[in-house]
Amino acid sequence: MKNIKAIIFDAYGTLFDVNSAAEKCKDKIGGKWQSFANYWRTTQLEYTWLRSLMKRHKDFWQVTEDSLDKSMKAYKIDSSMKDELLDLYKILSPFKEVPEVLKTLKEKNLKLAILSNGTPALLNQLVKSNNLENLFDDLFSIEEVRIYKPDSKVYDMPTKKYQIQKNEVAFLSANTWDVSGAGNYGYNSIWVNRNNNIFDNLDYEPKLEIKNLQDLLPNIEFN
Ligand code: LAC
Repeated sequence: MKNIKAIIFDAYGTLFDVNSAAEKCKDKIGGKWQSFANYWRTTQLEYTWLRSLMKRHKDFWQVTEDSLDKSMKAYKIDSSMKDELLDLYKILSPFKEVPEVLKTLKEKNLKLAILSNGTPALLNQLVKSNNLENLFDDLFSIEEVRIYKPDSKVYDMPTKKYQIQKNEVAFLSANTWDVSGAGNYGYNSIWVNRNNNIFDNLDYEPKLEIKNLQDLLPNIEFN
């Protein structure tokens, strides 16, 4: 990829492991922890889409809690675990290659940012708890436009702020629907396919598919 002026990352699932909260409680949750974590994540995302369609916005932290309540009922997990799971969600771990790759990119002549459904407070805490706070130019939160991805108002934020063209952005997400959303919008959308998943049929093929962020470096022509 050439002429890239900004590299923009999705947060949850791309930089930070959304399963790591439930994983840290796996002794208490038992063998179903992974299936529970997937159910929680899927419900959380469904709520973002449904709230955007219903025009009944609640912020990502409230959506995360609402979806956790349903998931704990579905998986018969004792309600005493709720606060622990929510606290762990605030300090999710990054995937292992993330800090190193971000540090390499920070040396390059381009903008580095997160563009996420997360609230500003959540995003700040996530980067801070993982010592990544000095690496980003911006943490763009959908709270600025109060509608969730993949609404185009979300993807508009970085191009407006940086006064750059859509095709000057490399956008990375592990979430297939977010890759499609950003790609249909006009970004060079890159799919971080960590788990050998199948891509969506939403009229967009990723510009690039990589296994992890390390694979990004040889694919960008830096100025
Ligand atoms: C985000 C979710 C979609 O960070 O992963 O925006």
